[in-house]
Amino acid sequence: MPDANDIPGAAPLAPCIDGTGPVSVTDRITWIGALDPTLRSFDIILKTANGTSYNSYVVRGSKGVAVIDTVKEPFIADFLEKLEQVARYEEITTLVLNHLEPDHTGAVTALLERAPHLRIHVSTRGLLVLRALLKDDFDRFDVQAVSCGETVSLGDRSLRFLTTPYVHWPDTQCTYVEEEQVLFTCDFLGCHYCDGRLFNDAVGDFRFSFEYYFDHIMRPFRPYVIEALDKIEPLGARIIAPGHGPVLRSHPEAYIQHYRRLVTPRLASETGAEKTLLIFYVSAYGATEQMAQAICAGASDVADVRVSMFDLQGGEVLPFVNLIEEADGIAIGTPTINGDAVRTVWDLLSSLVDIDTKGKVGAAFGSFGWSGEAVSMVENRLQGLKMRVPEPGLRIKLHPRADEQNACRDFGKQLALHLTGRTTPREIDMSELFAK
Ligand SMILES: Cc1cc2nc3c(=O)[nH]c(=O)nc-3n(C[C@H](O)[C@H](O)[C@H](O)COP(=O)(O)O)c2cc1C
Ligand SMILES: [Fe+2]
Ligand SMILES: [Fe+2]
Repeated sequence: MPDANDIPGAAPLAPCIDGTGPVSVTDRITWIGALDPTLRSFDIILKTANGTSYNSYVVRGSKGVAVIDTVKEPFIADFLEKLEQVARYEEITTLVLNHLEPDHTGAVTALLERAPHLRIHVSTRGLLVLRALLKDDFDRFDVQAVSCGETVSLGDRSLRFLTTPYVHWPDTQCTYVEEEQVLFTCDFLGCHYCDGRLFNDAVGDFRFSFEYYFDHIMRPFRPYVIEALDKIEPLGARIIAPGHGPVLRSHPEAYIQHYRRLVTPRLASETGAEKTLLIFYVSAYGATEQMAQAICAGASDVADVRVSMFDLQGGEVLPFVNLIEEADGIAIGTPTINGDAVRTVWDLLSSLVDIDTKGKVGAAFGSFGWSGEAVSMVENRLQGLKMRVPEPGLRIKLHPRADEQNACRDFGKQLALHLTGRTTPREIDMSELFAK
């Protein structure tokens, strides 16, 4: 192995298929990341059947060397060993942090301590996170916040920063090396798929992992994903080098198109200009179900609203989450069982973290026997998901009587009107104010 005095510089490295050494991406860009093949769960929320990689890169210019992102803390030694094979610490001028999450910043302090001429480049929002990350050490280092379009020169190579917030943290940005047409995207267009063969045309089939990563990490930020795609697509990058998973050197544009497909609403063409209201319910003795039917009937009286009803017991959570992502409003019905909403309802509600629910209309209803806590619990959750909850939750004791069915119908109608924006302020009966 070469040591720090025997730097290969721009010389291409032999392909490495086990991740133990640096790998040439172009003759000026080298992968110096770490492989984590045995990891089986990431950030609590993700399963990782193939482990993952923490991709870091070195960019060599005639007047400076840049390191793009680092690795997770347990892999510091691995990272430094690879770095030392391709660059001397004294020649490193730039550390770009495209995203400050610990899986990419674990080796920052170790690098700062070794590289005396290094300046950190982060996005404006990244600066705040970096301060929190480095704590008292922050002031010891040379940190520069960069804005969208700004460049940093390495002599005959340069880095251009593109601010791409919320894919998937506020700090996220991409970095483009114009002369090499290589785009560093960190988590964006990445996936948890560990394969030492590194390049998308050499590794195994990672499609499952690419989509799964999108679904759980990027999907809640759909509008920001579109914004980021709009920014990076015109670059026409020859290689997309993400922070996890394969380096996309064969048809990188196909992965951008794939993201486009993943953010495109699946049903929009079918529903046209109609608003959509989904009514979900669970019912042991049919009381909440009767409420759901009456709500459905009331909502269906409103023109231009497509109303659908689903028994949660009869379906899987994921297809329902897909429907909710594209719906304008949802109403959730649950009886109170042992002082709580039922598990199926919580399963659905907890799965909504994967999508953007902000601003959708939400409502809760349900039958109860004596205490009836479930409805307000669900309402709180809907509000926690940043939904608009314009109608107070509807609770009915045991099975609804005829007049209570009418109240359900009216509830449904009001919800549908809220979707169309045609709602009129309701006259409040004074007795309602004092009713418990
Ligand atoms: C096991 C069990 C526990 C219950 N716990 C509560 C409770 O804590 N509070 C309450 O108000 N009602 C409670 N109930 C009453 C139900 O909420 C009531 O029967 C309701 O009408 C059921 O609606 P459904 O037919 O839609 O399931 C309980 C019922 C069952 C079967
Ligand atoms: Fe991240
Ligand atoms: Fe990451």
